[in-house]
Amino acid sequence: MEQRAKIAPDAVHHPLFARFYGRFSETADRRAGLAAHRRDLLAGLSGRVIEIGAGNGLNFPHYPGAVSEVVAIEPERGLRAMAVRAALRADVPVDVVPGAAEALPVKSEAFDAAVVSLVLCSVRDVPRSLAEIRRVLRPGGELRFFEHGRAEGRLLAAVQRAADRTLWPVFFGGCHTARDPLAAIEAAGFEMVDCRRLWLPEKGPRHPASPCVLGAARRPDLG
Ligand SMILES: C[S@@+](CC[C@H](N)C(=O)[O-])C[C@H]1O[C@@H](n2cnc3c(N)ncnc32)[C@H](O)[C@@H]1O
Repeated sequence: MEQRAKIAPDAVHHPLFARFYGRFSETADRRAGLAAHRRDLLAGLSGRVIEIGAGNGLNFPHYPGAVSEVVAIEPERGLRAMAVRAALRADVPVDVVPGAAEALPVKSEAFDAAVVSLVLCSVRDVPRSLAEIRRVLRPGGELRFFEHGRAEGRLLAAVQRAADRTLWPVFFGGCHTARDPLAAIEAAGFEMVDCRRLWLPEKGPRHPASPCVLGAARRPDLG
């Protein structure tokens, strides 16, 4: 039988960040255009979906009606409580579950699609998290991602590395800005289907978490 290391459901403990995110993320969604990106992220999904690191549930209102069930994994207790409230308002059934990306508490090949938004920056172990996502997707299943990551420009990339070594992860719930989500997704054995780069906010001041990628990758049919 397959043995997987267990991770405590409350392994992520960032109560101050949770309160900050709970208070300001809805405004950021409206003002920085995130809500439109969330709609794009989830457009066309159907069947059983697992969302990893669901936060306070800002994606929930954007799931299309063809989605039969969302299992929303959230390890931070305060954010999870907010996600439970958001799930009650969602148009599709959403089950909010404690757990961490590195050891997803679900069966293998049980989902048609997986969703990560602004999460790979914060997980402790990116390759392990992506291996878990691949495990729980059926062959041919899709990973939808909306992630910030490493800047293409050298100056901003240097600022990102400095931010990651100092206070950024402390202030922003373990977030890192210089990771490369696209390279990590491909290294985990996904086939890239679609991807575009964008800035958050689109106009206005840029910061270390501004360069983003939004797209879809597929677990190969035979993989
Ligand atoms: C910036 S928030 C994004 C929340 C939400 N996905 C969104 O789009 O608004 C980062 C999220 O990643 C979660 N997270 C951090 N480490 C995690 C891990 N190891 N496994 C799963 N989620 C994790 C945090 O608890 C938080 O909910």
